[in-house]
Amino acid sequence: MHLKNDLLLKAARGEKKDRTPVWLMRQAGRVLPQYRRTRAKAKDFKTLVTTPELAAEVTIQPLDILGVDAAIIFSDILVIPEAMGLVYEMEDNKGPSFPQTISTSKDLSGLHVAQAEELQYVLDAISLTKRELNGRVPLIGFAGAPWTIFSYMVEGKGSKTFSRAKKMLYTEPQLSHQLLELITASTINYLKGQIKAGADIIQIFDSWAGILSPDQYNEFSLKYISKICDAINDVPKIVFAKGAFFARSEMSQLNCEVIGLDWNMGIAESRKMLTNKVLQGNLDPCALYGSLKDVKKETIKMLDAFGSEQHIANLGHGLYPDIEVDNVKCFIDTVKEYSATLNRS
Ligand code: CP3
Repeated sequence: MHLKNDLLLKAARGEKKDRTPVWLMRQAGRVLPQYRRTRAKAKDFKTLVTTPELAAEVTIQPLDILGVDAAIIFSDILVIPEAMGLVYEMEDNKGPSFPQTISTSKDLSGLHVAQAEELQYVLDAISLTKRELNGRVPLIGFAGAPWTIFSYMVEGKGSKTFSRAKKMLYTEPQLSHQLLELITASTINYLKGQIKAGADIIQIFDSWAGILSPDQYNEFSLKYISKICDAINDVPKIVFAKGAFFARSEMSQLNCEVIGLDWNMGIAESRKMLTNKVLQGNLDPCALYGSLKDVKKETIKMLDAFGSEQHIANLGHGLYPDIEVDNVKCFIDTVKEYSATLNRS
């Protein structure tokens, strides 16, 4: 279908455009009262994720309310372990947890490589969202990076250190690789399914990249992200590895168009390390707690540092739930207005 606004896809392919596109990680859910109303209707998070009509509704909300240049399908990275055989729970205000975790080869034998059809509810949500978007903006599909998914499957819940997951890398490297292979194969099937259902571009979230050493990161994370990138060729790919400042040079070798930067990664320095990539990011989400005047100032500073080309505007990580909607809008409007002047000069 013809897209009325294809700025994101143009930017991802490095093509010229009138202004910089903008979307936000965690744009659905976190800050919108409209989301909370739909969420209350659904009763719980998993019902929202598994009901295509509701998932499509909250996917589209930030478009109408915030004016972003892309929608990201409402789901979670933890649907993959569930499809592989490890059920997750999502408790209000507590985050995700797994009643069963993986620590032995016996645990591993209870898992299987997920097929896309086992996540039919996500594929249906994508098809329905595409229909309802009617070509307004591109739809972003996504998955967690194998290492980040592994962390939750082994640790069983969120953690500051993920030391159980890291312990397994040191004490059971072979078992760790087996699990990472299973997750990688499942993720490839899943992303291919998302693209077939209508996703126009995909993002891989490696939220826990930053807790590994550079050597471990190469061995246990980048290797598998690379396999995924090589297997997906029909749409542009964005890789966002939070905290992986030490791996930027290696990431320039990935078979992907876009690298997401977090706010710790210097923009000029990243440009030098990633000359062949479009960069996405990277304002500190906490900058949006400032006054509207300061939000504008910080956003302009970021846009000047990236320049008019090879950039997709975003935050350096997801929005926080208590950020004001007006401040989010100020970020988005500033990107739209100011980047158009950058492109003229
Ligand atoms: O970006 C979007 O707007 C699309 C939806 C989306 C969600 N989760 C919905 C969600 C996306 C892209 C994710 C990805 C995700 N999920 C990541 C990677 C991105 C990142 O932030 O690093 C991770 C690590 C998870 C795991 C997860 N899911 C956690 C730790 C939590 C609890 C705390 C929180 O809000 O982040 C979730 C729950 C979750 N996923 C919510 C939403 C809207 C909040 C649940 C609710 O409404 O009660």
